[in-house]
Amino acid sequence: MNEQAAGSPSRRSSLHGHWSSRLAFVMAVTGSAVGLGNIWKFPYVVGEYGGGAFVLIYLVAVFAVGLPIMTSEILLGRRGRRNPIATMRILGEEEGSTPHWQWLGGIGVLAGFLILSFYSVIAGWVLSYIVNSFTGAYSGADLDQVVSLFETTSSSLTISTIGHTVFMVMTAVVVALGVQHGLERAIRILMPLLMVLLLILVAYSYIEGDFARAVDFMFTPNFDALTSEAVLVALGQAFFTLSIGMGTVMAYGAYLPEGTPITSSALTVVLADTLIAILAGLVIFPIIFANGLDPASGPGLVFEALPLAFGQMPGGIYFGALFFVLVTFAAWTSSIGLIEPAVAWIVETFYRPRAEAAIIVALAAWLLGMGTVFSFSVGSDFVFWQGTIFDNVEYLSTNILLPLGGLLITVFAGWVLCRNSSSEELGVGTGFIYRGWRFMARFVAPAAVVLVFLHATGLVKL
Ligand code: TRP
Repeated sequence: MNEQAAGSPSRRSSLHGHWSSRLAFVMAVTGSAVGLGNIWKFPYVVGEYGGGAFVLIYLVAVFAVGLPIMTSEILLGRRGRRNPIATMRILGEEEGSTPHWQWLGGIGVLAGFLILSFYSVIAGWVLSYIVNSFTGAYSGADLDQVVSLFETTSSSLTISTIGHTVFMVMTAVVVALGVQHGLERAIRILMPLLMVLLLILVAYSYIEGDFARAVDFMFTPNFDALTSEAVLVALGQAFFTLSIGMGTVMAYGAYLPEGTPITSSALTVVLADTLIAILAGLVIFPIIFANGLDPASGPGLVFEALPLAFGQMPGGIYFGALFFVLVTFAAWTSSIGLIEPAVAWIVETFYRPRAEAAIIVALAAWLLGMGTVFSFSVGSDFVFWQGTIFDNVEYLSTNILLPLGGLLITVFAGWVLCRNSSSEELGVGTGFIYRGWRFMARFVAPAAVVLVFLHATGLVKL
């Protein structure tokens, strides 16, 4: 056992400092959860996979699978107090299982790295749309013009590379500054502001868009349209949007002070994240239907629908600029979470300074991200397995590594971690909440993930 070296769980503390309060922790996890996944990805996968039935599966996945896994992940992080790899190794030994659980941490570090590579490219487009707002590139634009503006942006090597580079530098800079100074500060004011702006935009869509049709599309399930791939994508989206399954929440949990309630923190994050995704859908789909945009048009959807609305509304340029600035910040607080596990791992394993680790990881993710830049421009014909380089990196990380990581996390928290350890760490006694969580973590969440996998790979027919 490594326990002596690592310290007993109650005495262990993190090398990187602690959150100043519970609110700071909740804000940070919410900051990592709310991002491009809510505003860019949620609408386009809902559109691609046919609406209501997909949304329903997604909601079930978020609450029945996502919530118990998020709780488990925070719990493991706080107990281990290290980077995800070391945390899983220490806990594996401590619970009399094997140190090989560290590979779970490894999956997470890899998934975060892969996601960061394409995340930064999309965030780079958002940056370029801030510029587009000020230059009036989309003011008064019609459908064809917004579509061609997105095509020009995403297929331009120069624009995509500049955006990707600027965003990756922004990420590295904040991460280099450290937990409290870097991570906490950016999040406090901007998240509530984003929420307010989304509400204003929902009101706009309600007045100007085809709201009834959007609500019908999003909330009336049509199970005929539901494929097994859609179920896997909905599950992947639940993991992606909640930032779970890859150790970020574990890494953040490692900085959580003793005695802070875990279950209610997890619930707060899940509710906030879901609300923002639904609001984004309610902004975007009414505009899509009112203007004859195809809801299934893919990753460009948001970049076409929103400028269309901003271009027509009075003062739309300012709204547009503000909106894209806020989305940039939402993406920024997420990218910080994506890079953190790898950075913490390098710092603790190789004793390198934080800043150096941040630069190394950012540089490597930038290089891989160029593959995504190529996927939308010169390399769009270079396809294998799932499609372009972007499609593959996205599929591998979101639909395979995140669910796999999540599965292992809940199996560890539910089956390997003994009852005493988990109830001590969760701190809610052994009553209803504890038993509810443990049941979900032991049975429901793992079974759901395994079933979805087998079903999507065609091994099991439902
Ligand atoms: N949740 C983020 C979003 O919705 C993306 C994301 C996935 C993420 N996994 C993460 C962010 C881990 C931070 C950490 O945009």
